[in-house]
Amino acid sequence: MTADSPTPTGAPDGTDSVSFDFAALGPRERYKLLIGAVVPRPIALVTSIDTEGRVNAAPFSFFNCLSADPAILALGVEFRADGRHKDTGFNVRATQAFTVNIVSDAIVEAMNVCAVPFDPGVDELREAGLTAMPGTKVPCPWIAQSPAAFECRHHVTLSIGRSREIILGEVVWAHFRADVVDPGNLHVDPAALDAVGRMGGQGYAGTRDYFDLPTMSVARWRELGRAGSVRESVRLTPGLRKR
Ligand SMILES: Cc1cc2nc3c(=O)[nH]c(=O)nc-3n(C[C@H](O)[C@H](O)[C@H](O)COP(=O)(O)O)c2cc1C
Repeated sequence: MTADSPTPTGAPDGTDSVSFDFAALGPRERYKLLIGAVVPRPIALVTSIDTEGRVNAAPFSFFNCLSADPAILALGVEFRADGRHKDTGFNVRATQAFTVNIVSDAIVEAMNVCAVPFDPGVDELREAGLTAMPGTKVPCPWIAQSPAAFECRHHVTLSIGRSREIILGEVVWAHFRADVVDPGNLHVDPAALDAVGRMGGQGYAGTRDYFDLPTMSVARWRELGRAGSVRESVRLTPGLRKR
């Protein structure tokens, strides 16, 4: 099955659907379906250094937090068309460390500068006008303008194919802008964080359209049913949602 000849299927409620056999799709077709539908993806602006201490920064949206104990962040890093490692993959291999900087709306254009395929050794942070702060537990810098940054030691790299690898890092230190986290109860304020996610194509989405939907216990579900599962729109104003 190719993208040109998807299988039409019908759901019991009459909704038309289209199915794809992933084994029959090419890499580009799989990529388009995945990045278009698995959205929004958080963006890691990853800072690393090479063996000469030169700073590198690049965004990755094949990124997520996979575990809190141990605290593991994952990056899906493609190889270049000629099979060489991207600078980030090369640096993590060489130095066993990287730092994930969360991308807020305020730094999304600077993040995009860091995606330019500069030659190795070019300091993308300088090109983007971002400020490198010295790392605490790892030699890589963190970005002063990022609302939250996680210093990671390389945990393991999964070789999953010829075109990319998955790098897992264990978080050993975190920096938060002071207005983003309440040090008393560790509540992270989503309005102050103002994170941006990646959609398909060249698309991005903000996080200001926010609502609460509490998870129910079985007893609560039996008591309230679907009517009890109502979303509560929340107007996000930095600093007003400490709990
Ligand atoms: C928002 C965004 C997300 C990206 N996500 C990824 C990704 O998940 N994996 C990847 O290999 N490249 C991704 N890229 C492309 C890299 O950022 C780009 O190839 C960069 O030049 C790599 O830099 P480096 O060689 O300094 O590591 C992304 C680019 C943008 C703008």
